[in-house]
Formats: sequence, structure tokens, C-alpha cells
Amino acid sequence: METIIKTMNLTKVYGKQKSVDSLNLTVNKGDIYGFLGRNGAGKTTTIRMLLGLIKPSFGEVELFGEKLEKNKKQILRRIGSIVEVPGFYENLTAKENLLINAKIMGVHKKHAIEEALEIVSLQKEPKKLVGNYSLGMKQRLGIARALLHYPELLVLDEPTNGLDPIGIKEMRKLIKTLATERNMTIFISSHILSEVEQLVDCMGIIHEGKLLEEVSFEQLRKRNRKYMEFQVNDENKTALLLEKEFEIKDYEVHDDAIIRIYSHLGMQGKINTMLIAHQIEVTKLTMSEDRLEEYFTKLVGGGTIG
Ligand SMILES: Nc1ncnc2c1ncn2[C@@H]1O[C@H](COP(=O)(O)OP(=O)(O)OP(=O)(O)O)[C@@H](O)[C@H]1O
Ligand SMILES: [Mg+2]
Repeated sequence: METIIKTMNLTKVYGKQKSVDSLNLTVNKGDIYGFLGRNGAGKTTTIRMLLGLIKPSFGEVELFGEKLEKNKKQILRRIGSIVEVPGFYENLTAKENLLINAKIMGVHKKHAIEEALEIVSLQKEPKKLVGNYSLGMKQRLGIARALLHYPELLVLDEPTNGLDPIGIKEMRKLIKTLATERNMTIFISSHILSEVEQLVDCMGIIHEGKLLEEVSFEQLRKRNRKYMEFQVNDENKTALLLEKEFEIKDYEVHDDAIIRIYSHLGMQGKINTMLIAHQIEVTKLTMSEDRLEEYFTKLVGGGTIG
């Protein structure tokens, strides 16, 4: 598999603080990669180094298999990005803004602007001034600008920041469209797990400058499988009954006579009735919470993320 982003011990020191600490990231071609971390974790600093906006104190960035430092100009041409709030001329329309940008970027393809506006669904109100755009529209325009030169890699620093739930959903849809229709590799940072978990193929979790974990989403899903738990007065008899009555095999017996079942989710009512009918006392019945959130919180500590 082709590697699009690779960092080797990437480090940024500000004063005494290691804002990014020996980061080893790998992003594969075609993946949507979620870069997750709380406020101040080092996401933006990392992204700035990936884009050559600041120099690493130590370590290296490799993009498309080439060292960024060695061939910066050529490499950056293959990347589109938004880092923090994108700035536009408020008294101009989206198209006028993009025309200026296209000129600066040396984009001469005739349809690039129309295409970019269309893919972010901003083609419908051509006369509207950017100053009258909502935040979500401005974010989408930022993406349109990042797409003008047909990049292979899109780097987005918290593109859902400040958006309402509908805006966030639209942004997710747009990113998915870009990944599938344009076959782009997308690196997206966020401090909210639920925003990216439905979207990404792979996830890197950064905390206090360090990469805590890098996992494919499939692995994560497997590790964080949903389950239901029955606490009973006789776990041996319960286990036998589960196998006999419902052919349940995917279960574990835990301490305190707790039986954790990974299959037959949604059948807790029927299982409960069956157990009671067999004189089993069910003292507690619980369904797993969102274990991914739990897992993320455990990794980075503290209460809510962000
Ligand atoms: N130019 C700078 N000078 C000094 N410290 C900096 C500088 N840029 C970032 N930092 C520090 O580095 C740490 C990481 O900041 P960074 O902006 O990368 O975090 P982040 O993960 O993007 O956070 P957020 O979710 O709030 O955007 C912070 O403690 C920040 O104060
Ligand atoms: Mg940031």
C-alpha cells in the first residue's frame, strides 16, 4: 500500500515545551485519517509541519514518498489544505474570491472554479457576498479553495469547528464524497471523537504532543464491540441456558457472576424472560455504552474531550 504521509520522530519544541513529541504517523493512500486530540494536544502544530509552514525542531516529514524539505515546492502542489479559519474577501462573491485565489495559485483550468463550487454545494447562490455567508458556508468555501488545483491529499484542521450538528453532518458527507469521487487521501483533525468516528478509515490519537495510538477503524470497532451484560445468581446454569435456548456462543463469563454477550443484541428482553422462567435471578442487566468514547477518554484521561 502506498504511503502518502509519513513522519519520523517529528518534534516541535516551543521554549521548554515539546508541543509535538517524536511523532511517527503513517497515512495510506485513499484513506480518510482522523487525527484526534484534545485542545492543545499538538494537532495544529503537527499540521503546520506537514504543510511546511513551520520547521520541525527535530525529525522529518515524508509526503508521497519524498522528504518534504528536499522538494517542498513540488510536493506542496499536490496538497490542498485548510488550517484554522480560512480568510476571504467579504465584499466579493465566492466565485470572485476563488478567481483571485486561482490566479495566485497559477490554476488555469477553465472549469476548476465551477467544479469546486459545485462539489461543496455553493453554486446555487452565485450573487451572494461571502460576508453574508454562514460559518458552514465559509468552511465549505475554504474546502473549495483547497480543491482548485486538484490536490491528491487534503489536509483539514478541524473543519467542523463551530458548526452546528447539521453543518457537521454536511461536512462529513462532503469529505466522504471527496474521498470516494475524487479518490483523495484526507487527513482531518478533530477534538471530538463522535465527529470523525463515522467517517475515518484510520485514526491517530495525539495527547500532550505524543501519538498514543494509531489504529485502523476496523481494529477499533472490533476491540470496542457492543455487548449486553446479565448479572445472575448462577452463572453456570445461565451459560448452559444461553447456549441451549438461544444458541449463544459469543459470550464471556466475568467476575461477580456477570455474563457478557456480544451477539443477539436487542434480544435482552427475550433472554431475560427465558432466564426467569428457568428460575435464574437476574440482578442486573446493562447494555454497553459507547465504548469508543470510553476508550478515547481512557486514553487521553479526564472527563469530556475538548
Ligand atoms: N507559536 C507557538 N509558540 C508557543 N507555543 C505554541 C505555539 N504554537 C503552539 N504552541 C503550543 O503548543 C501546544 C499545542 O498547540 P496546538 O495548537 O498544536 O494544539 P491543537 O491540538 O491544535 O489544539 P486545538 O484543539 O485547541 O486547536 C499548545 O500548548 C500551544 O500553546
Ligand atoms: Mg488546533
